Amino acid sequence: MRVAAATASEGSTDTITGDSSPAMTPADNAGIKKTRMNDPRSVLPPNVIDGKAFAAKLREQIGKKVATLESEHGITPGLAVVLVGENPASQVYVRNKAKQTREAGMNSFEHKLDPETSEKELLELVSKLNLDPAVNGILVQLPLPDQIGADQVLTAIDPAKDVDGFHVINAGRLATGQDALVACTPLGCLMLLKDRLGDLTGLNAVIVGRSNIVGKPMAQLLLKENCTVTIAHSRTKDLPGVCRGADILVAAVGRPKMIKGDWIKQGATVIDVGINRIQRDDGKTRLVGDVDFEAASARAGAITPVPGGVGPMTIACLLLNTLTACCRQHGIEVPE
Ligand SMILES: NC(=O)c1ccc[n+]([C@@H]2O[C@H](COP(=O)([O-])OP(=O)(O)OC[C@H]3O[C@@H](n4cnc5c(N)ncnc54)[C@H](OP(=O)(O)O)[C@@H]3O)[C@@H](O)[C@H]2O)c1
Repeated sequence: MRVAAATASEGSTDTITGDSSPAMTPADNAGIKKTRMNDPRSVLPPNVIDGKAFAAKLREQIGKKVATLESEHGITPGLAVVLVGENPASQVYVRNKAKQTREAGMNSFEHKLDPETSEKELLELVSKLNLDPAVNGILVQLPLPDQIGADQVLTAIDPAKDVDGFHVINAGRLATGQDALVACTPLGCLMLLKDRLGDLTGLNAVIVGRSNIVGKPMAQLLLKENCTVTIAHSRTKDLPGVCRGADILVAAVGRPKMIKGDWIKQGATVIDVGINRIQRDDGKTRLVGDVDFEAASARAGAITPVPGGVGPMTIACLLLNTLTACCRQHGIEVPE
């Protein structure tokens, strides 16, 4: 497995076709090296993409760059994570993000706010973080309580510190081929795809799901890689038929095992973004993706598991974005 550079892209309609504008993503700018990883302990079948191992290697590379930044420039990147309320899943995400931020040698600033926090109070905190030179990246954990408008809050974050890549400025930059902070999950998916497939030029890519945080930026990234991109959604006609045409199939739906094995083209590369908790026969719960993994893996040339596929890449790319944002704010190159 290699940790490969990823590039950004442009364009977003229901069916969009190749472009080669020169956008750069954090992975390009950070100069993440193509490092082959051979883990003799790995027991995964050869067509299963080990996102966990890939993300660990990526975090290690980021940690080395952070150490160089500190020794050469005396700068330590800082990530502020804001959690409003007590959503159990969000608490776990925020804890993991803080832990991995510290492990990469960056400063982690955690702000845990009362569930009753008003929009005004949250916006005041975001303003303070925007002005704080020790904070290079700001992440407000979603979902937010009902009294707070997510759009207002995301728009208030300084685009230069928007390490989630959700601000319209960053979405627009991605769409027009300019330097952008790119949403972490699609960026991680692209890195896995390029690692497995190398040049993606001319491949048919189908993305099921058109959310602003996964489906649309994923389409932009694949378009930049010269794929022929189709975005499918809940109104798509003959979804199985559309999926069967995909050399690359990205599922970002949020419906357990919706994508069936016989929807997969023989040899296709399948990236399963979905995270769904389902009840097991013994009453406990387990996580499954949007793809019926057992059936799909019999046909796929490569496929990400859930868990252990895309999930770990999201936090690794958050750290990468924080490093990139920090270097850009100081006007310096990301260390080699
Ligand atoms: N691994 C990670 O780090 C990570 C990060 C983010 C999200 N996720 C997971 O990824 C999944 C998607 O997240 P999201 O935020 O993109 O979800 P979302 O905002 O709810 O969007 C879901 C998309 O799926 C489409 N869809 C729903 N039912 C469909 C159907 N029957 N056929 C075809 N398309 C259908 C929707 O179409 P319409 O637009 O027509 O409604 C929508 O575009 C979730 O399971 C989420 O937990 C994982």
